[in-house]
Amino acid sequence: MTACPFHARHDADAPAVTRPTRTIVPVRANANANAEASLSANTNTNTNTSTSTSTSTSTSIGASASADAVVVHNPAAEALLAPLLDPALRMRPPGEPLPPPLRTQGGPLAEVFARWLRQRDDATHAPEKAALSRALLALSDDDVRAHARRQAAIAARGGWSHWHWAVPASTVASLLGLAMDDVDAQRRLHGRLRAMAAGLGAQAEDEAVRAGGEAVAALLAALDDAEHRAPDAPLQWTLLRHAAPPRWTDRATFTANRLALIWQSHEAGAALLGHALLEEGRTRGPRVGEAPTREDLLRLAREGGAVRVTRRFDVRQTPPAPVTVPLAGTDAPFGDGAHRCPGRGLALETSLAALQWLAEQPALRPPTAIAPLALPNMDIPQFKDEELFP
Ligand code: HEM
Repeated sequence: MTACPFHARHDADAPAVTRPTRTIVPVRANANANAEASLSANTNTNTNTSTSTSTSTSTSIGASASADAVVVHNPAAEALLAPLLDPALRMRPPGEPLPPPLRTQGGPLAEVFARWLRQRDDATHAPEKAALSRALLALSDDDVRAHARRQAAIAARGGWSHWHWAVPASTVASLLGLAMDDVDAQRRLHGRLRAMAAGLGAQAEDEAVRAGGEAVAALLAALDDAEHRAPDAPLQWTLLRHAAPPRWTDRATFTANRLALIWQSHEAGAALLGHALLEEGRTRGPRVGEAPTREDLLRLAREGGAVRVTRRFDVRQTPPAPVTVPLAGTDAPFGDGAHRCPGRGLALETSLAALQWLAEQPALRPPTAIAPLALPNMDIPQFKDEELFP
C-alpha cells in the first residue's frame, strides 16, 4: 500500500490489487467510441473536459462507458480489466446489503444505506445512476460557484477548524435548498453528518447507529421540506427535472440518494480542501490573489489528497473476499466504471470557488495544522480552532 504522501500513516487488512493500464483493454476502445457518441448526444455546460475520454465531463461518459464495459464476458479480458471495471468485484457481498452493525440495529441509517447507489450493483443501479448523472451535469458552474463562495464566507466566521469541513457539504445542502444562512446551520449539518459517520463505522455500537439514524431522519425531512419550499434551488431543480422520483425504484430510493449527495461530498470534499490548504499555505499574506487551478486539485487528488482507496468484495471467492482497490497514485481519484463519482465536476468547482474566495481575502492568518483524522480510505487534515482574520 502506498504511504500517504501527506501523513506517513496507513495500514489495511485486505490485499491490494494492482491497476493495469487502459491501453491493454481492447474492449474498452469500443466502449469509448459509444461514449463519444453519447457525449455528442447529451453534453451540457459542464466543461471540465480533458484529453482522455474516460475523464471528460466524467459523469455522463462514466455512466455510458461502464454500462458498455459490463457486457464484456471474455474471461481473459475480464482478468485484464482494471479492478474498478471488474464485474466480479462488488460493493457488497451477495445477499448482504447491510454491514453487521446496520443489519443488527436497522433504522433510518440502514434504510438509506441499502438504497444508496454507492452500495448497490443491482439491475436498477445503471439507469438510476444515469438519471442522477444527468441531473448533476445539468447544474450550472455559475450556481455552484455562487453557493460555494457564500458558504466559504459564512464558514470563515467559524474559524480554521470549521472552514474546510463546512464548505463542501454546506454548498451541496445550499444547492438543494436547505437554509444554510449562518455558522450555526453549517455546524448543525456537520454534527448530523458526523453522527452518520459514527453510525457507519465498521464497529459501530447500537447507540451510534441509532443516533446516526436520527440524523438521517432530520436531514430527509429537511430535504423534503426544501423540495416544497425551494423547488427552484439549483440542484433540487435539476434533480426534479432529470432524476425525479418516477425514475427510481421508489420515492424512498430517490430521497436516500438525494441525501447521499450531501453525504458523499462531506468527507472527500473536506479531505481535498484541507490538503489544498496544507499544500499551498494559501493564506499567507504575500500570496493573496493566487488560487489553485483545477489541475492543481486533480494532481492533489491523484497524489492521495482525497479518497485514497476504495473497497470491493470478490464474489468469485467463497465467502466473498474483501479487496482494497488503490485510487491514490492512479489517474482515477474519482473512481471509474459503474461506481465512478458523478459529483466530480461539482466537487472541483466547489473547492476552486472556495479557494478563490479565500485568495481574495487580504491579511488572513495562516491555519495551523494539527493531527489529521485518519480514516480507512482517506486522511482529512485538521486545523487549530483559530480565527481566519487576526
Ligand atoms: C473531492 C470530492 C470527491 C471525491 C474525491 C469523490 C470520490 C468518489 C469516488 C472515488 C467514488 C467511487 C467509489 C468507488 O468506486 O468505490 C465516488 C462515488 C460517488 N460520489 Fe463522489 N467524490 C467527491 C465528491 C462528491 C460529490 C460532491 C458528490 C455529489 C454531489 C459525489 C457523489 C458521489 C456518488 C453518488 C457516488 C456513488 C456513485 C455510484 O456508486 O454509482 N461525490 N466518489
